[in-house]
Amino acid sequence: MLRGRRVLLCVTGGVAAYKSAYLARRLLEAGAVVRVEMTDSALEFVGSQTFAAITGESPFTSLFDTVLVSPHTELARWADLVVVAPATAATLGRIANGISEDLVTATVLATTVPVLLAPAMHTEMWEHPATVRNLETLREFGYHVVGPEEGPLAGGDVGPGRVAEPEEILAAASGILAREGRGRKILITAGGTREPVDPVRFLGNRSSGKMGHAIADAAVVRGYDVTLVTTADLPVHPATKVIRVETAEEMLGAVEGTDPEIAILAAAVADFRPADTAESKIPRADGLSSIELASTPDILASVVGRAIPPFTVGFAAETGGLERAKEKARRKNVDLMVYNDVTEPGSGFGTDTNRVAFIDRDGAVEELPLLAKREVAERILDRVAAAVDGQG
Ligand code: PMT
Repeated sequence: MLRGRRVLLCVTGGVAAYKSAYLARRLLEAGAVVRVEMTDSALEFVGSQTFAAITGESPFTSLFDTVLVSPHTELARWADLVVVAPATAATLGRIANGISEDLVTATVLATTVPVLLAPAMHTEMWEHPATVRNLETLREFGYHVVGPEEGPLAGGDVGPGRVAEPEEILAAASGILAREGRGRKILITAGGTREPVDPVRFLGNRSSGKMGHAIADAAVVRGYDVTLVTTADLPVHPATKVIRVETAEEMLGAVEGTDPEIAILAAAVADFRPADTAESKIPRADGLSSIELASTPDILASVVGRAIPPFTVGFAAETGGLERAKEKARRKNVDLMVYNDVTEPGSGFGTDTNRVAFIDRDGAVEELPLLAKREVAERILDRVAAAVDGQG
């Protein structure tokens, strides 16, 4: 969940600041891009060089930075998530009361992304009515709070006020970003279309719908408003809006009735259908020797061709290698193409796993190993979130 996400780690002045160095490392190990802000008090406890060595970039320590013109607003906009750890009583008090007198508090006030606070202080300070009230206010503002825990504190004291462990902060950060969808509308197509020859027979393909349904499930958990247009009779998350269809024409109709910000087209849509559908079962005795075919609509083209197209992810089911998929990505004009070689064992139709490569608009390729379809779904959504949020 943290892979590719931008986490701004704000360190304020308590002895627990030393733990934030390890938190920075754990965030990086989880795949996050980490930048650090430190207050003057934090610098009394840990040197900025510690964080620079871990993250590869010097922490930002002043509102009057020499590199950034307006560090608090620029960093506030850069981040996907702001984590304040440790958050001292003074810091909580300032944020709760809108006092932005240092880089950290100014950034928290300037940001619109989720903020996670990890309070740390002595028990008496934690239990003081002012802190209790500030925490209530901060929760009302919608800030997330993790900890504190009970345990050894600075100076040999023991009690509530110990900062949450880095692993706990990491889990909380991951959980918050899991809700990244924030109700954004996402359209997903799944399954193989069936083009009727007569009321009994159809032209179809081997798509089970597992890939598209895995994306829909993952998107619901991330907080997207999911519409799934599918031919497959697979279980779905209760929060999913499901439109069941059979033919390419029906799928097009369902897709046209949606207005998503993001479209992920994983369905295997037939390129041809029988030109005519017999109204009753064609008897064997009639000796049908050929079926005249007609083209089906190109659903992807209709989505990409909208006046304001959504961020569109296409799939390329190929048997002929990556170069053909790259060409298809260009021709289809998608924001992201997911290539799978459907002849590879464990990949493509009907399997629980898939091995895919991402091709972006610039033709840059990221190849993934064989993964469970759910994990492939997560990786696709990571790419979408990074691209869509990056577009601002
Ligand atoms: O369903 P599973 O069993 O889990 O298998 C998954 C899958 C192999 C079906 C899936 O991973 C996949 O590759 N889906 C796309 C299959 C496909 O039709 O590929 P294509 O290369 O023919 O089409 C390219 C893109 O155009 C696709 O996004 C497709 O949805 C879209 N398309 C194609 C034809 C058409 N008439 N309209 C379309 O929108």
